[in-house]
Amino acid sequence: MSERTSFALIVPENFIQATRDSGYKSLGSALAELVDNAFEAKATQVSVTMEKVERQGGAEDVRVTVADNGRGMEAQTLRHALQFGWSSRFNQRDSHGRYGMGLPNASLSHARRVDVWSSPDARTAAVSYLDVDEVVSRAASIPPASEVPMPDFRRLCPFARGTLVAWSRCDRLMDRKLGPLSRKLRAELGRLFRYQLWAGKRLQLNGELVPSFDPLFVKEGANLVGAKPFGPELTYETEAPSASPRRTSVIKVRFAELPVAQWHSLSNSEKNVQGIAKNAGVSIVRAGREIDRGWFFMGQKRKENYDDWWRCEVRFEPDLDELFGVTHTKQEIHPSEKLLSILVPDMERIARELNGRARRAFLDVKGDTAFRESETIAERHDSLLEPPREAGAVGKNGARKIQRGGRGRVGGLEYRLKFQRLDSPCFYQPELDGTRLTVVLNEAHPLVRASFGTDAKSRDETKKSRRDVELLILAAARAELTLAKNKKAKTWTNAFRQSWSRTLATFLS
Ligand SMILES: Nc1ncnc2c1ncn2[C@@H]1O[C@H](COP(=O)(O)OP(=O)(O)O)[C@@H](O)[C@H]1O
Ligand SMILES: [Mg+2]
Repeated sequence: MSERTSFALIVPENFIQATRDSGYKSLGSALAELVDNAFEAKATQVSVTMEKVERQGGAEDVRVTVADNGRGMEAQTLRHALQFGWSSRFNQRDSHGRYGMGLPNASLSHARRVDVWSSPDARTAAVSYLDVDEVVSRAASIPPASEVPMPDFRRLCPFARGTLVAWSRCDRLMDRKLGPLSRKLRAELGRLFRYQLWAGKRLQLNGELVPSFDPLFVKEGANLVGAKPFGPELTYETEAPSASPRRTSVIKVRFAELPVAQWHSLSNSEKNVQGIAKNAGVSIVRAGREIDRGWFFMGQKRKENYDDWWRCEVRFEPDLDELFGVTHTKQEIHPSEKLLSILVPDMERIARELNGRARRAFLDVKGDTAFRESETIAERHDSLLEPPREAGAVGKNGARKIQRGGRGRVGGLEYRLKFQRLDSPCFYQPELDGTRLTVVLNEAHPLVRASFGTDAKSRDETKKSRRDVELLILAAARAELTLAKNKKAKTWTNAFRQSWSRTLATFLS
């Protein structure tokens, strides 16, 4: 080995192995680098695919592609784009990329090979690639981009002009199930790129549009909506650390409060699915793209369960990267002391206020003792009844099994009453989830309006009779479960409930 090569700054084969482990948190955060590049190239459409393919010799492979209709690259740029550290915008602060690491680093974190095809003008196209095994076997440079006939480009890329990045030999995805992986990816991309989607950009995954997901639950999308902005958006103007000439940049902070009264009665599994539970904290958005989320800027305040019931978002531009401690993988922040001193005083105070509001909202909900009493009475007596068929097994969400006691007694169901406007004429509808029987009372039905609505009599007067009406309904719902042993019986009880409800509505009208 010559002296020159042995003292080169980088030992290519080792470097490339090491950088593969540089640690993207997820497939989503690695792919986000490519989607960032596409949007930075002014793409209006980005199409991601992920599929199992067969390699020569029959081995299975996972192939991931990201295509965009952006401005594309000339052959020379395309070759540079695969170099670690080359960027057409090195250290610029007006966009996402600035380190020249995203494309090669994110790609090799998941794949042993990445190919990039690009056409800047819909008339010419070129391709080049980076292959881990080639680099390892012979100290390599990026191969010159070779020309690609346009028909070949068109076959590969869904857009006439733009760029297609393809990962193959995805060894880090081989043992993953593609179904769950792409569901997770869809949700993640919808959240990370929500601002681009709201601005009208189109992002597809395996041919389907990715819907936006607002972790604040304020804006319509794939998420529940119903949270309310809490207070006005806060803005903090601060000096951009490395800007020359000197200028300032603005940090924006907003909070949202989730509707405890409406959502508290959702089952735990539903709260998980909807992202209400276990997602407390702050979403960090850099240049309109989420790069991190977690329990940031909360000072001494620890996270509690009540903190599931509010959300926060902090937005900033890349000229404040030093303050936020953004690393080149753009998936994490490490706030500096200066940033903490700017944000923590207000954010900790507001977090404590929102925690208190959630706590009080729960007290209000639980303070509705009339409900609790009927639910508790029904729960106390349920073990005396024949268990419903459907509840024997573990609920579809893993809810607890009915436990059989020592003398063949059954543990019993949990009862919940819930108000909702139903499309059916029924005044109630039972829903069994594991061992929880939720009886939905139809707000549109006259009985429910008369007994529970604002036109109901004063609280004390009606408390007992209301409890009895509740028990009547809970009993009917429970009886249905006992009877609904097969499809026929179920259809019958359903028909009975409809007819009974209609008749009652007639009497009360
Ligand atoms: N989809 C794309 N369309 C056009 N140019 C691209 C695309 N992806 C990458 N590039 C070019 O390759 C360069 C390197 O990309 P990357 O490694 O992600 O670094 P960075 O985004 O930090 O510049 C970019 O600066 C850009 O010039
Ligand atoms: Mg980039």
